Amino acid sequence: MNFDITELSIQDKYRLLSGGVTPRPIAWISTRSKEGIDNLAPYSFFTVASCNPPVLLYTQVAQRSGIDKDTLQNLSETGECVVNIVNTDLLEKMNATSASISIDKSEFDLADVRHNNSYVVSPFSVTDSPIRYECTLREVISIGDLPAGGSIVLLDVKSVYVRDDLYTDEGINQELIDSVGKMGGDSYSPTTNYVALNRP
Ligand SMILES: Cc1cc2nc3c(=O)[nH]c(=O)nc-3n(C[C@H](O)[C@H](O)[C@H](O)COP(=O)(O)O)c2cc1C
Repeated sequence: MNFDITELSIQDKYRLLSGGVTPRPIAWISTRSKEGIDNLAPYSFFTVASCNPPVLLYTQVAQRSGIDKDTLQNLSETGECVVNIVNTDLLEKMNATSASISIDKSEFDLADVRHNNSYVVSPFSVTDSPIRYECTLREVISIGDLPAGGSIVLLDVKSVYVRDDLYTDEGINQELIDSVGKMGGDSYSPTTNYVALNRP
């Protein structure tokens, strides 16, 4: 079966892209508004953009209203965030923080997420997240203004937290990290069952 992209509805385009480009890592992004309200939301259109300089990227999928989501509003105003990596234990709380709530309410309270001060930025870190990247806003690149269009958000990584037991001489212990991937629909993929291959 082949799909002519010009004949697809917005929903079908979304389903074919988000259901095939899987599994995706989840950036659980905490920000703080300029009024001091803490925000936390998951974004799975997320990856590494560059290692030197260290840059992460996530994509905000545009809402029908055209109004930026709270995460990007806060980032645009304050320039700071923490990207918290989600593990199996955090999955349900992460999901709860994807609810649309008003910008004057905090998802940390809504989902009862343990948090602590970060090292170099103002937004909170998620205490139980095993890996956390403290970032500043580098650039926002708009792909278009249509509903479900994308704004690519580039983030300069300023500080990396790795839970002590996960750090080895070879880097981050892949047997223990237990990060979760996003599949299509409402599905998630654990990473504890993985294979290792020597590179040629
Ligand atoms: C696992 C998961 C991944 C998500 N990934 C994205 C994404 O990549 N881009 C996006 O715009 N919304 C994504 N969402 C939806 C946002 O989390 C949702 O719109 C949320 O309310 C945004 O919160 P904010 O307004 O506080 O930023 C995702 C939701 C879930 C549960």
